[in-house]
Amino acid sequence: MAKPFYITTPIYYVNDVPHIGHAYTTIAADVLTRFHRMAGREAFSLTGTDEHGTKVAEAARKAGLTPQEFCDRIVEKFKVVWKNLDIDNSYFIRTTSPRHEAGVRKLLAVLNEAKTDDGQDVIYSDYYEGLYCTGCEKFITEKDLVDGVCPDHKTAPEKLREKNYFFRLTAFTDRLRKLIESNELRILPEERRREVLGLLKQDLPDFSISRERVEWGVKLPFDEDQITYVWIDALLNYITAIGYGDDASSFKKWWQSSESVHLMAKDILKFHCLYWPAMLMAAGEKLPDTMFLHGFFTVDGEKMSKTLGNQIDPNGMVEEFGPDGARYLLLTQYPFGVDGDIQAKRFVQQYNSDLANDLGNLVSRVGKMVVVNFEGKLPPPHEGIEGLDDLMKQTEALPGLVYEHIKKFRLSHAINDAIGLVRASNKFFNDTAPWKLAKAGKTEELGGILYACCEVIRIVATLLYPVMPRKMAEIRAVFGLDDSTLTLDHARKFFELPQGTPVKIDEAIFPRFDAKKKAAKTSEKTQPSEDDNLLDISEFGKVKLRVAQVVKAERVEGADKLLKLQIDLGSEKRQIVAGIAEHYSAEDITDKKVLVVANLKPAVIRGVESNGMLLAAKKGKKLFVLTPDGDLPPGAKVS
Ligand code: MSP
Repeated sequence: MAKPFYITTPIYYVNDVPHIGHAYTTIAADVLTRFHRMAGREAFSLTGTDEHGTKVAEAARKAGLTPQEFCDRIVEKFKVVWKNLDIDNSYFIRTTSPRHEAGVRKLLAVLNEAKTDDGQDVIYSDYYEGLYCTGCEKFITEKDLVDGVCPDHKTAPEKLREKNYFFRLTAFTDRLRKLIESNELRILPEERRREVLGLLKQDLPDFSISRERVEWGVKLPFDEDQITYVWIDALLNYITAIGYGDDASSFKKWWQSSESVHLMAKDILKFHCLYWPAMLMAAGEKLPDTMFLHGFFTVDGEKMSKTLGNQIDPNGMVEEFGPDGARYLLLTQYPFGVDGDIQAKRFVQQYNSDLANDLGNLVSRVGKMVVVNFEGKLPPPHEGIEGLDDLMKQTEALPGLVYEHIKKFRLSHAINDAIGLVRASNKFFNDTAPWKLAKAGKTEELGGILYACCEVIRIVATLLYPVMPRKMAEIRAVFGLDDSTLTLDHARKFFELPQGTPVKIDEAIFPRFDAKKKAAKTSEKTQPSEDDNLLDISEFGKVKLRVAQVVKAERVEGADKLLKLQIDLGSEKRQIVAGIAEHYSAEDITDKKVLVVANLKPAVIRGVESNGMLLAAKKGKKLFVLTPDGDLPPGAKVS
């Protein structure tokens, strides 16, 4: 029985809103988790947020909030985006949670008692003097600077001298090197392993684990005047989240007895591949099994950054392509593991060609032919069809190939191989021209072709389920398959679908994305014809209209038309986003009583969650928010 599988993403800084860089790693971890589960393993996936440190405290101050209020606000954006992308994480860790803080203090207390092999203290105090970049949240050297400023943050570093506690890394580097060389600690891809071994050949200094001047963080258990360095605090999330210090049996299962994988991009190699294993060694804990450091991507050739304004909001991608489209597109831009470029302008074309044309079309034309020619019942297989043996061979080989790719983190290869089979199947379909056989009444051969294509579709939909869980479930439902057969084993065998299986296909699984049509549709929506869509009285009754009072209003960053409103509905407070910023300022609308639709599903508009809709009317180009006539209390029903 394979060991349980434990996978982590980095915990993301809350001073930035989620962007596709964060989404990339988190989707990849989700795909790996789902795949290992499909292969019969127990799996736990972890993500979360890194909430301490000067950077976050600074961002909070700018936003006029306490650090905790600020974190509480931003963390919701991460939770919403993961929900929108169908990320099925087993736990979400916040470094400001009491559970995490207790775990950090516990491990630091253990380290403070620990000795090196030659009897020295692992932790010691000393003075540190150096250049500190708050943006990077680390000390940097003169040679890192470009024209006197940090090349990443374009700010001059501060000179700091302070008492710090240090971790005696020098006492662990030899052991660490041997573990990496022997692959007991696997660092992947090979290029990253070489990079780490290269670093270990240099004279690595001990590193500091605490800060004197920082306020926002976890106090050291052995010196309450010092705050744990944010990176040390952050790394410990990988064990506090699974019970280090408070749940021995969970910790035993998910750390000591599992195969653990830390997934991240190569930007945070040093902390993960040097400091983290050395700390675990010193504390007498097992090391992680694998570090996988994927590449870093640019967007349309440029480094993605807040300042350049080229960060792509994953929520926007979900709105456009659905969660499955967004997941697929992000993972297939370039091979997983190396550096690459994300070209957003190619998304529509690629969605149309891979998903709408290749996969979607195969499902709909095969499904429809079964419906039309065989009354929606799967015909029996048939031998001797030209090209069938090759297609079957390719299909039977696919699950093994894909699983090998998954085990080696070759996500884009796995996906491409599956789509390759879809293309081969489309070719088989075209070459055998089943529509001609239908006309000629050659039912057995026709049935054989359709049977084979249905099997290909079932197998591909199972193998791609971890990448596109919703759409693949829809495809599997064409054959009435539910989650009970969602296993790698079920995908390994051909002839699993019995003859006579009902085949139902209603709408296109991946409707073609037509940018022009979409624009037309949106303008239709904003100018509905008065007579269209007459409602029944009972239907109107479903709309819950309420009086609400605007408690607070502010503009949505980067959106000229939107205001974010906090409203009081009597029994509860809510946040809604309204497209009124060109007509009302935040001050104009604050304290106003308004009318809202209160039972809409939450929506995310420009990355901001909205839980309702404000009523307004237009006269010419001017927009007027509707207000109640009379002194009605918040929450009053509108009928
Ligand atoms: N908080 C630290 C991590 C602590 S983990 C103990 C941090 N946070 S971060 O918000 O900056 O996230 C960095 C990670 O986001 C990268 O390692 C990677 O997983 C992901 N990415 C951010 N931008 C990315 C790209 N442009 N390309 C690929 N991955 C990207 O560092």
